[in-house]
Amino acid sequence: MSQDIYPVPAGFAAGARIDASGYEAAYRRSLEDPAGFWAEAGRRLDWITPYSPDAVKDVSFGGPGAASGDVHIRWFHDGTLNVAANCLDRHLGPRGDKVAILWEGDNPADSRAITYRQLHAEVSRFANALLALGVQKGDRVTIYLPMIPEAAVAMLACARIGAIHSIVFGGFSPDSLAGRIVDCGSKIVITADEGLRAGKTVPLKANTDKALDQAPGVETVVVVRRTGGKIGFQEGRDHWYHDLIAKADPVNEPAPQNAEDPLFILYTSGSTGKPKGVLHTTGGYLVYAAMTHEYVFDVRDDDIYWCTADVGWVTGHSYIVYGPLANGATTLMFEGVPTYPDASRFWQVIDKYGVTIFYTAPTAIRSLMREGEALVKTTSRASLRLLGSVGEPINPEAWAWYHKVVGDERCPIVDTWWQTETGGILITPLPGAIALKPGSATLPFFGIAPQVVDAEGKVLEGATEGNLVIADSWPGQMRSVYGDHERFVQTYFSTYPGKYFTGDGCRRDEDGYYWITGRVDDVINVSGHRMGTAEVESALVAHPKVAEAAVVGYPHDLKGQGIYAYVTLNAGEDPTDALKKDLVAWVRREIGPIASPDLIQFAPGLPKTRSGKIMRRILRKIAENEFGALGDTSTLADPGVVTDLIENRQNR
Ligand code: PRX
Repeated sequence: MSQDIYPVPAGFAAGARIDASGYEAAYRRSLEDPAGFWAEAGRRLDWITPYSPDAVKDVSFGGPGAASGDVHIRWFHDGTLNVAANCLDRHLGPRGDKVAILWEGDNPADSRAITYRQLHAEVSRFANALLALGVQKGDRVTIYLPMIPEAAVAMLACARIGAIHSIVFGGFSPDSLAGRIVDCGSKIVITADEGLRAGKTVPLKANTDKALDQAPGVETVVVVRRTGGKIGFQEGRDHWYHDLIAKADPVNEPAPQNAEDPLFILYTSGSTGKPKGVLHTTGGYLVYAAMTHEYVFDVRDDDIYWCTADVGWVTGHSYIVYGPLANGATTLMFEGVPTYPDASRFWQVIDKYGVTIFYTAPTAIRSLMREGEALVKTTSRASLRLLGSVGEPINPEAWAWYHKVVGDERCPIVDTWWQTETGGILITPLPGAIALKPGSATLPFFGIAPQVVDAEGKVLEGATEGNLVIADSWPGQMRSVYGDHERFVQTYFSTYPGKYFTGDGCRRDEDGYYWITGRVDDVINVSGHRMGTAEVESALVAHPKVAEAAVVGYPHDLKGQGIYAYVTLNAGEDPTDALKKDLVAWVRREIGPIASPDLIQFAPGLPKTRSGKIMRRILRKIAENEFGALGDTSTLADPGVVTDLIENRQNR
């Protein structure tokens, strides 16, 4: 573990929005008087009906033996506001002609600059179009779009009329899309003819058509023309986005929403079962996304801010669209991939637009690092002043390269730890206040009360290591699992009753800095994408030749974690390389390319206890090539299977 310390650079210290003692004072106050602290912070938004001081925080995390009804989380609950009005209308006076969204297409020749005034006009029209299609407050709208400005327009148009959007990442399969449509009961899907990635098309409309075979409740499909490729079009059900916009009334009054009205659902993977619909609401979410965006990225009016995530993930929700637009910032949206046309694309784009703040994932940094320094050094990157990292622990080697080669040792790196569930960043440096240690997300944001606990829930003090929980609520926290509050309580509040369990392990050092060590549950993190091992297993066992499957993560140089699948075939099936290929293709089809197994081991038997439970600890060790340290195997029903597993291990 690196112990290097990088103090706050002089330039940042001089212009700091908040310095070290300011951070300490504000942090202390945020924990001592959360209602007072957040009442003040909430004023960064425009409220239609202001919240009253005693409605700022109303939270119970339950406790030992709590029933599901005992867990409730409400913030600003008697206030009303509109998210789109906060992201658009209120900027028209001071920033109408400022660029809201800079768009860089997959092809470097494609770009657009959309001002706040233009974005407001388009969102207003699309909001009216949705109303004309019969979409009402509280209806769920599934969005399956590539990284084009229309994705932000669709999100904001939903927010404007009080519809709940559910974005499904464009890399997901028709099956995954169908599951998410059905789970939230949405009757409308917004998609594009095709997406474009590295010059190749992604058949989004065709995927949607396939998904709708399994989701008969969908009555309306809106199609954005992106490539002009040939698609099927079902009259009556399908509508072109540009036709709707052309016909729509340009004036739309934003509809007041209660602070606790749902804003969006975003599906994410857990230890067990199908992905769950993480539900975020309106007021607290936006206060938290906007405030963290401003403080963590030290955003100023003239910044060009670029987050490379996809809007299909929470990072895209909070830090491409909602946080930046609520703050009146210029946010760059990138359709392509870091290695097309070549591996200097990120740095080219930074120079092209004069990007000042750049936020990406360790997996991208590692893969670009492999391409060598020369490609970076063909660009100037002189505009950069701050770098960010998110999605997985950043190894000190990648951190050092990012700092030295990309940032020319000039730019602090904010390593931001958070989750789909948390709505915004929870543990992070503030660049003008907190010295950095490579690999550590450093200290909690205002209002965040992390604790390290042992397996029994005992709170560990000082420098220690254990599981990470959060002892109290913050406004951006998810409110429920859509349609299944009991699952919400079970998943997050039952392991350590009365506390939010993150699913992450962590270490806290002698300076109180947090070092996230990764998931402690059956979730793996592949290239910063969260994947439930149970989902990959259920895709594998759906294959006609597969009897049983167990999936674990293993360390992977580029992806952080790779997917290692142990597969037991039905009697009489041949364990061939061709079948391995077929299984990989099968999983890609069932879930999407991000779930492709990296290594498959055919296993005649899996290590099970006498009661039939698979001992994943052993499978993880073998996948890590650490079979010398298997621990106690005496409780296995058939200890002999282990010898075969070790002999045929795939990661050597
Ligand atoms: O394990 C942590 C890891 O990503 C998980 C959350 O994944 P997701 O909900 O997809 O959200 C990702 C983007 C916010 C966490 O439980 N993680 C995220 N950021 C970091 C991280 N691990 C270490 N350091 C980080 N900065």
